[in-house]
Amino acid sequence: MSCPRVLLVLLVAVGCATPEPAPEAGIEETPFGTLPDGRTATLYTLTSPSGMQMQVTNYGGIITTLTAPDRDGRFDDVVLGYDTLDDYLAETPYFGALIGRYGNRIAQGRFTLDGVTYELATNNGANHLHGGLVGFDKVLWTTTSFTTDEASGLILTYTSPDGEEGYPGTLEVTVTYMLLPDRRLRITYEATTDQATPVNLTQHSYFNLGGPASDTILSHELAIAAEHFTPIDAGLIPTGERRPVDGTPFDFRTSTPIGARIDGDDPQLAYGLGYDHNFVLTDSSTTMKFAARLYDPSSGRVMTVHTTKPGLQFYSGNFLDGSLTGKGGNVYEYRSGLCLETQHFPDSPNQPSFPSTILRPGERYTSQTIYAFATDAE
Ligand code: GLA
Repeated sequence: MSCPRVLLVLLVAVGCATPEPAPEAGIEETPFGTLPDGRTATLYTLTSPSGMQMQVTNYGGIITTLTAPDRDGRFDDVVLGYDTLDDYLAETPYFGALIGRYGNRIAQGRFTLDGVTYELATNNGANHLHGGLVGFDKVLWTTTSFTTDEASGLILTYTSPDGEEGYPGTLEVTVTYMLLPDRRLRITYEATTDQATPVNLTQHSYFNLGGPASDTILSHELAIAAEHFTPIDAGLIPTGERRPVDGTPFDFRTSTPIGARIDGDDPQLAYGLGYDHNFVLTDSSTTMKFAARLYDPSSGRVMTVHTTKPGLQFYSGNFLDGSLTGKGGNVYEYRSGLCLETQHFPDSPNQPSFPSTILRPGERYTSQTIYAFATDAE
């Protein structure tokens, strides 16, 4: 609670409690369980003076908890996930995880680079998805935590060996999560390689701004700063076209309830089983720009996404089907969470007209995404 000074003097005079000090930026570690090979995972709890709290485990770099206030100032967890490491090990549709080497699909798990054809692990029908059988979502990252006066952060590093999941080159990856003032989560991705290789790192949090145990995300309103999207085939692989959103259910240039058009008669929605598409934010710019705004009218929570990446995958939780029970015993029903994955376009290594995802020796891959939380009462 914050009070103007005059009011404070009055309140103290009549015996009112002094205002609570803002929480400090901090980070705490607790054990999170044991992996099948005996290594232990840690859970990091980051706090911010803004009152937000984030929990992250070094297993998969998974964000397990992220809290944000509603219009009455009540903080709730706005991401889907599990209570225990064992649950994450048993089965997860990438809840909260870091994704690499390549977020999204590579057709037939195959691409040709500098005259050499590489075969990747296929884990999504005939295609390669989210880095393969053991992607960055399933490895144990090395971590360093830090705090400043205003922010708390966690640096995660991982060395992906040459040939892992079929990819060329040893890839050194660093991801930094930072809880900044003004209820902002900033994610910075960096990588270097010793051989040319595709890289497309992203984060796979499922959001439901209504908090735990809330309804589907169909009444959330979404705006996406995209004039085009990349249509897909039945295997969810882009056809190569950039299609104008104008006049389609993919037009989110004006904020629209997600449920308004999701079950419409549209072949693209049929292929995606709803929204599971890449939106073109830009073709060339690498500067930080507004990508999307998500609004939950019932809680008043607002989340905005800014990124340096050219694309945004909007996935409306179409594969959630009530078979997974998450935190606090909540059952994750159809479309009870959504992802806004900042990324390069899917299947870019096979799509010459898409922005390149090839990282070469001597170059540094860098990208940044900020998820910021506010309310409609501000
Ligand atoms: C991504 C994909 C979806 C689906 C989910 C995980 O967002 O685009 O098609 O595979 O991951 O279930």
